[in-house]
Amino acid sequence: MLMWKKLYKGIEAKPLRQGLSKLLHEVDTDRYDKVIAPCCGRFATTEVLSNHFDNSDIYTSDILLFSSVIGKYIGGQEPQDIIDELNVELPNEWEQDYEGVDCLSNVLFAQKYYSTKHNNYYMENVRKEFLENKDVYVGKLSEKISGLKDKLGGIHYEVKDVRDVLEENRDENVFIYINPPWYKGGFPKQFDTGGMVSWNSPDIEQFDNHPEDAQGVLDDFRDSEADMVMLVNVPDIHSDLDEYDFSGWDKFFVLKRSFNMHKYLYSNFETDLSLVQRRKEDLEYDEIPIWSGSWNQEERKVEGDWLNKYSNVNFVKIDRKTAEYYRNLFLKNLKGDTSANVCGAFLVDGKMIGVVGIDPKQALKDNLGYIHETFGISPITPEMPKSICRLLMMFITSSEFKQDIKNLVNFGTSDFSGVKTVCISENRRVNLNNGLLDITDREKLPDGRWKIYYYTDFYDKSYKECIVEYLDECERRYRGLNNGG
Ligand SMILES: C[S@@+](CC[C@H](N)C(=O)[O-])C[C@H]1O[C@@H](n2cnc3c(N)ncnc32)[C@H](O)[C@@H]1O
Repeated sequence: MLMWKKLYKGIEAKPLRQGLSKLLHEVDTDRYDKVIAPCCGRFATTEVLSNHFDNSDIYTSDILLFSSVIGKYIGGQEPQDIIDELNVELPNEWEQDYEGVDCLSNVLFAQKYYSTKHNNYYMENVRKEFLENKDVYVGKLSEKISGLKDKLGGIHYEVKDVRDVLEENRDENVFIYINPPWYKGGFPKQFDTGGMVSWNSPDIEQFDNHPEDAQGVLDDFRDSEADMVMLVNVPDIHSDLDEYDFSGWDKFFVLKRSFNMHKYLYSNFETDLSLVQRRKEDLEYDEIPIWSGSWNQEERKVEGDWLNKYSNVNFVKIDRKTAEYYRNLFLKNLKGDTSANVCGAFLVDGKMIGVVGIDPKQALKDNLGYIHETFGISPITPEMPKSICRLLMMFITSSEFKQDIKNLVNFGTSDFSGVKTVCISENRRVNLNNGLLDITDREKLPDGRWKIYYYTDFYDKSYKECIVEYLDECERRYRGLNNGG
């Protein structure tokens, strides 16, 4: 039997909807008085929005007959008025004697029937089955549509080009969620009835994957007053495939399906979230499980994935491509030069807690007495009172790390006693380095940010000692936070 899901492809996967929901839990939603959801499709994400905002503040739009029928109904119009207003015409052979919400379902089902290709025996039979059980399908669709109305009743809907919607909504106090179609031609195809179902379809061009269209939105809303979250369905993870410029956008959620397939949520405002969600089962040979623990204050320990004084910490060398893959997966914004010739991963009980790039060339060549850390990135879990990057930095500045690097790279007679790094930041210092690295210099960049040079001698510490110290800081930080500090 035909499922609701199959009637309409292209909706956000559940984890992405959860990612949006997590963000909306973090932000102060009261500051928005208008929520704009263009390209609303099947209203799956509108349901998420309605958990966080008043329905009367939500403005949806699309250009499909499917969305328009449902949207207008949810918006409060009478079924027959909707059919008349949209000027829907079905073939004479198609029974039309339905009332109430069933007459809307009948239109959607006719569209499904006539757009189902029947160029082989199997599909012929599928269509036959559709006709035989037509009333059942119509009834099921009506249940769904009524359920949506119960949940979303009171939202606004109009048939409108997303380009116009965005043009008109750039003010402060506006929140926009958009999942535009990223691949050309996908949407019209799934609703093509060969002229059997007609309506006064607007003469609006599909917003498809002309990079200019999506890039235009990224550029227009980079600095806009309105806050926007965009679902991105093209890879930005392999730099060579990256045809879009996401600078100024914050990547706060990644849904990882496979090595090559990722979907992202980007916001044009900064968030504290940085979440990576992956399917547990699709580990590939060159993939390392990602550490993801959270802080349980009652028991004062990390749970989910463990982190304690018995945790087994290893620094393993990984090839550059794999390192860059994880670096791009964890990173919100790529800042500064991150090329490295020695790459490695910190594993805690076999799970990756950080990926690191080192450039030991100068230390080797000129015996400068330090190595250069070009990047050190962690999957930040919002549940930890102190960023897990802080622990990574503790590892990198420990004498155990120095020994690991010496085991990996043949330094001959050269030696080094410290580590240098450079951070680009909006601020004059980077908090997570406080007390670990000293600032040796800083420069103001033309864009207003700071380039901060850091150095420290290695601390005489093992990785396990770093963990104990880090957990101690988490505990103090948690107490501080809860005493208003
Ligand atoms: C990936 S889907 C969005 C799915 C939706 N968020 C949901 O929850 O079901 C993209 C939507 O963009 C719509 N669309 C395509 N071009 C458009 C345009 N120029 N103006 C408005 N909507 C458009 C498509 O009809 C489709 O419903």
